[in-house]
Amino acid sequence: MKKLKIASIPGDGIGREVVPAAEDVLHTVAEIHGGLSFEFTNFPYSCEYYLEHGEMIPEDGLERLKDFHAIFLGAVGNIKLVPDHISLWGLLIKLRREFEQVINIRPAKVLKGVQSTLLNPNDFDLMVVRENSEGEYSSVGGRMFKGEDEIAIQNSIFSRKGTERAMRYAFELAEKRKKHVTSATKSNGIYYSMPFWDEVFKEVSKDYPNIDADSQHIDALAAFFVTQPERFDVIVASNLFGDVLTDIGAGIMGSVGIAPAANINVNGKYPSMFESVHGSAPDIIGKGIANPIGQIWTAKMMLDYFDEEELGTLLLDIVESVTGDRILTPDLGGKSSTKEVTNEIISRLKKRT
Ligand code: NAD
Ligand code: IPM
Ligand code: MN
Repeated sequence: MKKLKIASIPGDGIGREVVPAAEDVLHTVAEIHGGLSFEFTNFPYSCEYYLEHGEMIPEDGLERLKDFHAIFLGAVGNIKLVPDHISLWGLLIKLRREFEQVINIRPAKVLKGVQSTLLNPNDFDLMVVRENSEGEYSSVGGRMFKGEDEIAIQNSIFSRKGTERAMRYAFELAEKRKKHVTSATKSNGIYYSMPFWDEVFKEVSKDYPNIDADSQHIDALAAFFVTQPERFDVIVASNLFGDVLTDIGAGIMGSVGIAPAANINVNGKYPSMFESVHGSAPDIIGKGIANPIGQIWTAKMMLDYFDEEELGTLLLDIVESVTGDRILTPDLGGKSSTKEVTNEIISRLKKRT
């Protein structure tokens, strides 16, 4: 029996609605397999936890999490309770960094039955490899002066190691896809980091002569995402560019509620973390209408990660059979609830239709 021990952190807002839904789906998938089981251990780390304990995660929290096979996270953030930069740096970004989850993979394609904003949605099928540990997300900087002279200084950090690692990951991924990597740059406007990024990209691309490599400024790239998505296969992007691009991708897919993601620890020292792209969605908390598909598709990425690709593919096929029949939550123009969509996926999984 392959027993996967997963640390479950539903977090805030709709994280608490979609994580249990996706866990139910994973239990069903495990039953189909027969020789697989998931054991979820729940951790209450969230903004409410912060109010009670003065920290997002206890001092020994990382120690408690580090031996799990993976972390399954919903969303973090409740600005009514805790400022975002405190809650996110205290939990989500902390986990990504401390557990060296240096790569964030975010697939994007349009599911059957879902209305895309594109004329030719089939052309949109890509993978963003987002550098996940440095870049524009940095705590190096400061604020000084007061009043009208006040300034904020925010440094970005691009290490050769981190930049090269993300790029190599993208090239390796492209080997298994359409053999094309696009680098998201902005070396016309950003003076130090982006010319460096381009240089490293040129060097790394030489090691992959069978892969088409090109570079595109992030502004033009963002427009091509919408107007000519067939240009793309794998895109490698810095932390911030990858963040924004994947929400554009999610918009093209019809809703941010269906976009999946995986934070990968590439050196095998710590658990990887599976977490959908969307946030805690404060405007729909408690209404029972959060789209569970982002978290369920994220669960599929976790299955793939544990070498259960056949089950992962089955799961996404079933999700598409449900969306194909237009059983959708309101964000996708439907009338179904989180529970109804989840139960439909579970019942079709059981029947495999
Ligand atoms: P958001 O993704 O939470 O919401 C944006 C919009 O998308 C909202 O209208 C919301 O209702 C909708 N939406 C999101 N997920 C949905 C789902 N599954 N089903 C249906 N609709 C969905 O982004 P935001 O409003 O910018 O952020 C809200 C909070 O979440 C903030 O505190 C932010 O920092 C945090 N956040 C956390 C994560 C994360 O933990 N990974 C990601 C993004 C934002
Ligand atoms: C994401 C989120 C986070 C990010 C925020 C909440 C810090 O937007 O996972 O996409 O920017 O990485
Ligand atoms: Mn984001």
